[in-house]
Amino acid sequence: MTRRTDMTLIAFLQAQNCSNLPASWRHPEAMPDFLTAEHYMRIARTLEEGKFHLAFFDDRLAMPDIYGDDYRTSVKYGIRAVKMDLIPLLTAMGLATRHLGLGGTYSTTYYEPFHVARTFATLDLMIGGRAAWNVVTSLNDSEALNMGQTEHPPHDLRYDRADEFIECVLGHWHSWEDDALVVDRRAGGVFADPDKVHRLDYEGRYFRSRGPFTVPRSAQGHPVVIQAGQSGRGKQFAARWGELVFASYKTLASGQAQYKELKAAVAAAGRDPDAVRIAPPVYAVVGETRAIARDKLAVLDALAQPEDALSLLGELLNFDFSRHGLDDPLTEGEMASISGQQALRDCVAKEAGTPTPTPRHFIELSKRGTVHEMPVFCGSATDVADEMEAWYQGHACDGFVVAATHRPGAYEDFTRYVVPELQRRGVYHKDYKGTTLRENLGLPRPVARGTPKRTI
Ligand SMILES: Cc1cc2nc3c(=O)[nH]c(=O)nc-3n(C[C@H](O)[C@H](O)[C@H](O)COP(=O)(O)O)c2cc1C
Repeated sequence: MTRRTDMTLIAFLQAQNCSNLPASWRHPEAMPDFLTAEHYMRIARTLEEGKFHLAFFDDRLAMPDIYGDDYRTSVKYGIRAVKMDLIPLLTAMGLATRHLGLGGTYSTTYYEPFHVARTFATLDLMIGGRAAWNVVTSLNDSEALNMGQTEHPPHDLRYDRADEFIECVLGHWHSWEDDALVVDRRAGGVFADPDKVHRLDYEGRYFRSRGPFTVPRSAQGHPVVIQAGQSGRGKQFAARWGELVFASYKTLASGQAQYKELKAAVAAAGRDPDAVRIAPPVYAVVGETRAIARDKLAVLDALAQPEDALSLLGELLNFDFSRHGLDDPLTEGEMASISGQQALRDCVAKEAGTPTPTPRHFIELSKRGTVHEMPVFCGSATDVADEMEAWYQGHACDGFVVAATHRPGAYEDFTRYVVPELQRRGVYHKDYKGTTLRENLGLPRPVARGTPKRTI
């Protein structure tokens, strides 16, 4: 098989008091200035030095408070208690860099398509065509309550609504043709060609939006669409819309199977599988030597507190585990009622070997709240690069979403040690190929469709 040479690297960020590891704010090297723009601009500069393609923020519209209907524990222990809006952070990071792509998560369940289309199109213009939108349907009732609703809608219905939502957003993004702007100040003056700006007139079952859209196209056409559905319905959605797809898997073998399946689903949706990049989230813990890296991992393992896991599982699954003893199995009805991340629920049931796992099964099998909830590539630069190469050359992925164990140190280590090793092996670019995110990811620039037609 031909050796692959264009690994994609994405940084997995949080506009929060912590990294992906919720306990990371306790890490002795974590910088406590996470409420300042400079914190995120410094990370952006480090990532650009490491030639990362994209820095991406996840999001949730509530703090974890489902476990025992209690927000005090989250606040007291800093269990993802702070969550800022990511657009101002992305803007600051974009202005501090020239090539790094900047992506953020906005929900199709709690926002309006016009608002999301306008926000990301504006960001894309302000940072020169480097923006991406992670399309999520959100996870839990706390988010619903913060956004004026009483409960989180059922899983598959969320994706039905999301299909319309994204169709509407893309419709707006396609409604200004590339050469619509004229800005000719001579006699009389023509600002833009009205024949090249179209009204959407979108009328779906769940969403309506008239237009015309108020933001012209950016250098890359429109923001890159990210998706990370893992359930059957979620993967179908990702295959239909995602240009960059985040797929969670624990081992090389399961990654290879899922990668193949996802690429086939993209082809079945009538799209070019090579125009979709697939990347799993992983942690990298790297040191000058393998022993130093293991010591670093031991420090990380000591950070999590017992409160973290059940609070975070409640948030992710939209289920209150406080009604059960640790070894008291959930009922089948309770399992069916889990409306958050169903893929995780199903994975725990499968690995526990029972349709009704206990809270302890969920804690031990998900490893939520610790670095071990994702694959951990730990060791010297050579060790980490070896594992990354095995997954990448083994067709389990097109790149990685590198989560930080602590900020900003984890990205400084990765850029200092792992990036040069990947570049030396010729699997990762030495410099950015272009100026837009699409050029750097090798994704095609979408042609403005002009007057979009509904396809649902
Ligand atoms: C790398 C990665 C990042 C994600 N970021 C978010 C996020 O920011 N907000 C969110 O609500 N869900 C996020 N998700 C969850 C997915 O959108 C999706 O809901 C989840 O993988 C479960 O799949 P399902 O919705 O098909 O059940 C993320 C998933 C992955 C793998």
